[in-house]
Amino acid sequence: MPQVFQPANLGALELKNRLIHSATFECMADENGAVTDPLVKRYVNLAKGEVGLIIPGYMYVNPRGKASARQTGIHDDRLIPGLTRLVDAVHAAGGRIAFQLAHGGRQCPKKVIEKAPLAPSGFGRDPASMNKPVAMTEADIQEVIASFAKAAKRAFDAGADAIQLHCAHGYLLNEFLSPFFNRRQGQWGGSPENDFRLLMEIILAIQKTVGKDRVVMVKMNTNDFTPKKGISPDLAAQYAAWLADLGVAALELSSGTFYTFHSVRGDVPIDDLARALPWWMRPMAKMIFKKQVFPCRFQKLYHLPAAEIIKPVIGNMQLILVGGVRTLGEMETVLSESKADFLSMSRPFIREPFLAKRMKEGKTNEAACISCNKCFAAVFNELPLRCYVDGLL
Ligand SMILES: Cc1cc2nc3c(=O)[nH]c(=O)nc-3n(C[C@H](O)[C@H](O)[C@H](O)COP(=O)(O)O)c2cc1C
Repeated sequence: MPQVFQPANLGALELKNRLIHSATFECMADENGAVTDPLVKRYVNLAKGEVGLIIPGYMYVNPRGKASARQTGIHDDRLIPGLTRLVDAVHAAGGRIAFQLAHGGRQCPKKVIEKAPLAPSGFGRDPASMNKPVAMTEADIQEVIASFAKAAKRAFDAGADAIQLHCAHGYLLNEFLSPFFNRRQGQWGGSPENDFRLLMEIILAIQKTVGKDRVVMVKMNTNDFTPKKGISPDLAAQYAAWLADLGVAALELSSGTFYTFHSVRGDVPIDDLARALPWWMRPMAKMIFKKQVFPCRFQKLYHLPAAEIIKPVIGNMQLILVGGVRTLGEMETVLSESKADFLSMSRPFIREPFLAKRMKEGKTNEAACISCNKCFAAVFNELPLRCYVDGLL
């Protein structure tokens, strides 16, 4: 039996294998952020497909942190019954499930939150929505810390097996960690220690609220690829060591923000993406997207170089590798060389929810996904998640 399909522990959590479904926004919740039947069905299929741990799409912890229409919410106790239904259905199908908690920060479009987006610093405009963010006050920061702690409690009250804090892709927690987005001076910015403080306070608040035994994971950028220097692999390694000290069970490595497509390397479906924008933004957006095509082209295991820097400094904290994981052979090499502890995939599971089971049964060694990114363009256009390789229309 390949190593990837042998049972493994992620922190205190027993998983049937080392394959993880990386958080993937579904655009399937109702307008209040509640779980719907199609959303439950998606994850029941993945559980039946024998994915070791399922992380559904990012969930917003506060209404001001909602980044997309039809995003799942975890900001209100009234959402707990729907979240419980999701967890129970996955458990009944033999799966394990972790909720990814997020605040969209400066990437929340004004048309979704009906207010100016919040950010560590109030400069510039978001490259996707063109909205100008406002710098957070001390009260805003305290509210965000409390929102994450309350959301963590809701996740575990709903029966989730673990949580993951979304500190990647340019959202609020990434913004505080990034010297590009975070231009504050004082306790919340100006040095690596101060940039890290918000994430640290959130982890401590979560541990105080739900106890230290719960499995808390983090997904973090190892490179922001912002116009000026943001998180670099070396800075990420420093943060990773601090996360290990705080008792975080596992770290998933990613990269990129709304400035580029590094998080989802592959094709850039220029016309499909531009269609989601107001007509007056399209010509400029298409020019910007064209510049992304070469730097963001598909690569195998594209976060492996960062993993090689980070793995040696994190002690017992486990490493989850995402990004361009496509073949059984690659997975086995990564595990046998101890470059990571778990392999995580997003786009391949959209096309083939039963991929893990089929690989385990020897029916295939390679994902059919061609990283065309039409799934990404679809949710950007507020269409429900599925494989759109044949086109969006
Ligand atoms: C449609 C779509 C939605 C995504 N939504 C999320 C999300 O909610 N949270 C997150 O951390 N990453 C999200 N991602 C990024 C994936 O989790 C993953 O990091 C990335 O796609 C690279 O992995 P892959 O090569 O296996 O697709 C999304 C990716 C896609 C294609």
